[in-house]
Amino acid sequence: MSSGKEFHGKIALVTGGGSGIGRSVCQILARGGARVSVCDINLKAAQETLATLQQPGDHVALQMNVADKASVREALTATQGRLEGTPTLLVNSAGIGRRSTFLEMSEEAFMEVVDVNLKGTFLVSQLVCNAILERDAAKGASVVNIASLAGKNGLAMHSQYAATKGGVMAFTKSCAKELAKTGIRVNCVLPGAIRTPMMANVSAEIMNEVLKINALGRSGEPEEVAELIVFLLSEKSSYMVGACVEVTGGHMA
Ligand SMILES: NC(=O)c1ccc[n+]([C@@H]2O[C@H](COP(=O)([O-])OP(=O)(O)OC[C@H]3O[C@@H](n4cnc5c(N)ncnc54)[C@H](O)[C@@H]3O)[C@@H](O)[C@H]2O)c1
Repeated sequence: MSSGKEFHGKIALVTGGGSGIGRSVCQILARGGARVSVCDINLKAAQETLATLQQPGDHVALQMNVADKASVREALTATQGRLEGTPTLLVNSAGIGRRSTFLEMSEEAFMEVVDVNLKGTFLVSQLVCNAILERDAAKGASVVNIASLAGKNGLAMHSQYAATKGGVMAFTKSCAKELAKTGIRVNCVLPGAIRTPMMANVSAEIMNEVLKINALGRSGEPEEVAELIVFLLSEKSSYMVGACVEVTGGHMA
């Protein structure tokens, strides 16, 4: 019997689920009846998210380093075993930034951000989508990647971050074209400044500059991005494929 919940019977895997936007996505999906695999490099943070979900026993918290293929494979296998099925909803929310001018940026700092934000999105998407297709479960499947307004406009002091997010947009559109006819839809969101731990280190001075060119004059809340992500995961967005949707409070520059 149907519970009337939109995601009843669905399994979702959320990377970066231990914090910020990813945590909020896990909470909304769980309220909607999905069983959620909360994946994060920080297992404690993933477990903290799990504890906030309705009926935590229906979900699982796992350690996953998105930049490491073996770790991604292990967490996917554990998800399949413990939630008794393959995730058909995927959110790639794991991400990092490292502040530096591009003139001074080390090769290591550049590659660290590329490995997590861009390669990580590729690795998780590839393993999960292949698992979906192998099980003939593509109907209604949906992947949402998290790019950034920085990927479209660039961001001083974060050139490698902006470059990876531009890459995530192009990757999203390419995967969307390849997969649309299988039934798997792929889309991405471009958040502006969102109040999460990632933003905690931004100085008040820089934040003031950012908010001067924001139509609403405030930063966003993680839920305000998560609601859009969950819409893109749902059948309500069935005609959206390869879309890159801004959620910024109105960027005026
Ligand atoms: N907060 C913003 O203003 C903003 C704006 C635009 C885009 N984004 C993007 O949104 C996504 C979520 O960011 P957030 O603001 O919620 O940040 P956050 O720091 O609150 O959460 C990111 C999570 O990713 C996890 N993580 C980091 N490296 C990982 C790895 N290698 N493997 C698995 N997990 C890893 C962290 O442990 C953390 O729990 C990121 O991709 C970020 O780039 C954020």
